[in-house]
Amino acid sequence: MNILILGSGGREHAIAWKLKQSKSAQQIFIAPGNAGTSAIGNNLNIGVSDFDAIADSIKKHSIGMLVVGPEAPLVEGIVDYFEERPEFSDVRIIGPAKYGAQLEGSKEFAKDFMIRNNVPTARFKSFTEKNIAAGYSFLESLKAPYVLKADGLAGGKGVLILNNLEEAKSELKAMLMDAKFGAASSSVVIEEYLDGIEMSVFVLTDGKNYQILPEAKDYKRIGEGDTGLNTGGMGAVSPVPFMNEVLQERIKTRVVEPSVKGLKEENINYKGFLFIGLMIVDNEPFVIEYNVRMGDPETEVVMPRIKSDLVEHLIACADGTLNESAIEFENNAATTIMLVAAGYPEAYEKGKEMKGFEQLGDCIAFHAGTKEINGKVLTDGGRILAVSALGENFKDALAKSYRNADRILYEGKYYRKDIGFDLMDY
Ligand code: AMP
Ligand code: GLY
Repeated sequence: MNILILGSGGREHAIAWKLKQSKSAQQIFIAPGNAGTSAIGNNLNIGVSDFDAIADSIKKHSIGMLVVGPEAPLVEGIVDYFEERPEFSDVRIIGPAKYGAQLEGSKEFAKDFMIRNNVPTARFKSFTEKNIAAGYSFLESLKAPYVLKADGLAGGKGVLILNNLEEAKSELKAMLMDAKFGAASSSVVIEEYLDGIEMSVFVLTDGKNYQILPEAKDYKRIGEGDTGLNTGGMGAVSPVPFMNEVLQERIKTRVVEPSVKGLKEENINYKGFLFIGLMIVDNEPFVIEYNVRMGDPETEVVMPRIKSDLVEHLIACADGTLNESAIEFENNAATTIMLVAAGYPEAYEKGKEMKGFEQLGDCIAFHAGTKEINGKVLTDGGRILAVSALGENFKDALAKSYRNADRILYEGKYYRKDIGFDLMDY
């Protein structure tokens, strides 16, 4: 089967790398891809939201499976686009239809879904310009810190955590009245602050059955010690060393099962990855958010740990038979360190020549923001390279990731030196 993967990040490189290992995969195409994915398959110069061009490529390259990497095309309805066109009825598409993609596209939709389906989450209310006064009162009823979330997609920037009530009120006003995050903040969810440790759980679901993938923890802040601006993710670790049998069982029975049961009972057309962001408070899981795709850079630690054939699991997902075979993973650990551009997540330069790839050993370098020009690899994004490694435990894997992160050279290279710092005592 020929497979087309949409996206251009480390996530898509890691998915392409894993799918390529399958006996069922013939040609792999990536649109638009990067310098890393072009070594695995064929990059197609098409944007992830250009559905007509994607449709043409599916026909031209006899694609049997479309794997949607990022959320934007899902929220924009790419699955519906193809389901409405009978000539694509044989193409298996991995990703939810537009209605289900609101689990990521709208915080309010996601919170209402959690409440209806008894999925544990922080207490919340949502507000618009019309009832901003009630928003101020709700803030007064909570204790600091205050959590404000733009309802819509805001590129990972739409969540504010504020220590001071007056500041929280003025930010609420800026979001609702002054479009601080554009249309995404015309509605705002205010929720109770949860004080715990974060982790991410990944589920593959066909809307009725599910399989749980290896879990991970990512490091979202730019600065060491989890300080500074939020980024797409600066590193990740899988599994999380604080996992225990009780927590695992609670995640399965209290979070994953009711979430999938909710999809089924509400007849939500969902065949794809569900990424559940959790806050663990006293060994109890609470859902912070759903994403309707895999995480980045979490995918760069999850894929290397999956032992079984992912193409077969994706076929089962699209065909509604995910209950028939279990996803197997290795009893090892994986880490990834994200190399980024100077200035990221604010303004940064692109086009810096990268060197040192031939020095890499005992790691898997997933390209996140690179392009190849005349045989040279150039930086082409804020997040540039995810240096993943496997080990017996995460400390082992981390040492390999760091050894190799040092070997890659380009002007302005930055990476966090403390990934896993909070896990050392587990
Ligand atoms: P989100 O975009 O929903 O993932 O939120 C961004 C980040 O804000 C999360 O990764 C958490 O670190 C933090 N966060 C979100 N909601 C809460 C909450 N209710 N309590 C504490 N931290 C939160
Ligand atoms: N690493 C977080 C995300 O992919 O949303």
